[in-house]
Amino acid sequence: MMTKGVTRDMDGKTDDRPMLILKDIHKFYGANEVLKGVSLEVRRGELVTFVGPSGCGKTTLLRLIGGFTDISSGDIILDGQRINDLPPNLRDTRICFQNYALFPHMTVAENVGYGLKINKWPKDKIAVRVRDLLEMVELEAFGDRMIDKLSGGQQQRVAFARALSLEPKVLLLDEPLSNLDANLRLVMREEIRKLQERLHITTVFVTHDQFEAMAISDRLVVMKDGLIEQVGSPIEIYERPANEFIASFVGYVNFMEGRIVSIDREKQEAVVKTEFGEIAIDLRQNGIGEGDDVLMVIRPESVTLGIECGRSGNNRICGMLKSYMYAGSIAKCTVMIGDKKMIVDQYNPRDAMHFKNAEKVEVEIPRSVHLLKKKKK
Ligand SMILES: Nc1ncnc2c1ncn2[C@@H]1O[C@H](COP(=O)(O)OP(=O)(O)OP(=O)(O)O)[C@@H](O)[C@H]1O
Ligand SMILES: [Mg+2]
Repeated sequence: MMTKGVTRDMDGKTDDRPMLILKDIHKFYGANEVLKGVSLEVRRGELVTFVGPSGCGKTTLLRLIGGFTDISSGDIILDGQRINDLPPNLRDTRICFQNYALFPHMTVAENVGYGLKINKWPKDKIAVRVRDLLEMVELEAFGDRMIDKLSGGQQQRVAFARALSLEPKVLLLDEPLSNLDANLRLVMREEIRKLQERLHITTVFVTHDQFEAMAISDRLVVMKDGLIEQVGSPIEIYERPANEFIASFVGYVNFMEGRIVSIDREKQEAVVKTEFGEIAIDLRQNGIGEGDDVLMVIRPESVTLGIECGRSGNNRICGMLKSYMYAGSIAKCTVMIGDKKMIVDQYNPRDAMHFKNAEKVEVEIPRSVHLLKKKKK
């Protein structure tokens, strides 16, 4: 089996050089610096997703890689070659835009074969390649259809097949699923991921949807204001966010303030004193010491809700149930702890009515919470 990020050539030698290297990339629009020094290495066959608030520079970065916008300074290295000055058609990259940019006056097959025709492929070879590509995206019966006679999901597939036609070294996808309805989006994201893995094609993906990003990516890159804030696997970013911005950008989070009052290095345990009592946690991170002011990153699904109140200790805190919204597989609860709101997701809420009428409830903070060190003022 192929190892992620490593390509074997015909002699069985491995190639673990990065496919794409971004080196200290800056981009100015006039006096406005929209990329402020972005560096990243993308491995062969890897799917890396950029997420971040609107305007943080995601599309600009994709356009720079694809050659549609000039770089102000820095380098883009594709498979060992510096490509800063190459026009888009001479780069081994293909971009798939949000609106697909398909040619409405052409058939599906003509759209998919367009790049091949421009590259002067012979007609018979184009026909074979287009047939293979359409088969791959399960549109083999649609070759003669006009684009406007296709559904959104089918158009998305055509755009994908067209982007793959010349076997680019890097595929660039800018919000490729944002025009689809929620259900189709789920289906298409799985299809894209499956194809991407099967073809082992290095892919840079951009999306607004943090859950989509977590679901399909090998690594996430969280951006803010033209800079990378954190790079990591989805689980790293979700479970061990580097700062408050990342913690609250990816999924919902409850923060609780406290101070480290003791650390037992042998047991890997830290005790955090909060205004609601002491919370013991498993300390698996470095750089936290006694006396540090911290923020606990408490995910709604990690908190256990109990109906009995009054057993203090063991990370249990008593609160008032403000709302209990039953929604079948999950109930969203809002618990007031003092004057602070805590959101708790309760899965399999069989005791719905029981909780619904409760006033006092108990929340149990898990020992696995991640800590963010607060900067000393
Ligand atoms: N052609 C341009 N001329 C001037 N400013 C631009 C141009 N294109 C983008 N910008 C600015 O650059 C910044 C980054 O834009 P970009 O489109 O890369 O953001 P984005 O992260 O893709 O946002 P979104 O999530 O909304 O798509 C924004 O402030 C935007 O206004
Ligand atoms: Mg964008």
